[in-house]
Amino acid sequence: MPGKEYFTLSEIDQVADAIRSRTHYQPRIGMILGSGLGDLANAVEKPESIPYDEIPMWPVSTVHGHVGRLVFGLLENQPVVVMQGRVHYYEGYSMQEVTLPVRVMQRLGVEIIVVTNAAGAIRPEFAPGDVMLITDQLNMVGMAGLSPLRGPNLDDLGPRFPDMSQAYDRQLMDAARNVAVQAGIQLHEGVYACLAGPSFETPADLRFLRAIGADAVGMSTVPEVIIARHGNTRVIGFSGISNKANLDGSTITTHDEVLQAGQVIVPKLKTLILGILRDLA
Ligand code: HPA
Repeated sequence: MPGKEYFTLSEIDQVADAIRSRTHYQPRIGMILGSGLGDLANAVEKPESIPYDEIPMWPVSTVHGHVGRLVFGLLENQPVVVMQGRVHYYEGYSMQEVTLPVRVMQRLGVEIIVVTNAAGAIRPEFAPGDVMLITDQLNMVGMAGLSPLRGPNLDDLGPRFPDMSQAYDRQLMDAARNVAVQAGIQLHEGVYACLAGPSFETPADLRFLRAIGADAVGMSTVPEVIIARHGNTRVIGFSGISNKANLDGSTITTHDEVLQAGQVIVPKLKTLILGILRDLA
């Protein structure tokens, strides 16, 4: 599967038009649900869903734990679109394909994107089942040259050299902190590092990541946030901590562990996200 390298604005708009013909919702908020977190979509009221394989050009998840559909509906009375499952670079998709859904959400009128992922904890005080508010990101894949913005810039959507000094929206982070305090949810904060995967990290990889300031590590989110910010979409992000990263090589990491932790994390994320949406209303 050679990944498609670039999408033109008219291709992106074709996808958006195809989706518009299938739902009457005009979403203001988009949500991307990571591994094991798909159950959050069940909170959507009056849902209308579209399977990914019925949307032209849309990348289809191949990973266990990703349902693979768009759910439109209401959360706290606000129109939302939820991606129940995402695709990753390691599945064989290009960075442009991985991030096409964010482009399409922008064309559908989405102003705020909530990104979620499953992540390994690098900080020793984080435990499986915890939630981390993402305050910044480390783009390991991008530093090696793989940017979703590589190629002709779509000037209608954003600038050639987008600023990333405030990738995660300060006001939305404050809202998340307030909701966490009110709801009695422990909310860690930290930097999320994105690696390509799919192999988990070696202990040496993890000690390197710790040394450069990463608090949690995963295989997604960062490309999506770059595309969101290129188009001036506001972003808030949460990592669901699924496992302790194995800095000394004493334990192993499995995908099942990642999916299981999701069960504990989903109710917390639901409280946080609904609280933020109430704050926006
Ligand atoms: N490493 C990378 N990605 C992950 C991990 C991890 O430990 N846990 C969940 N996603």
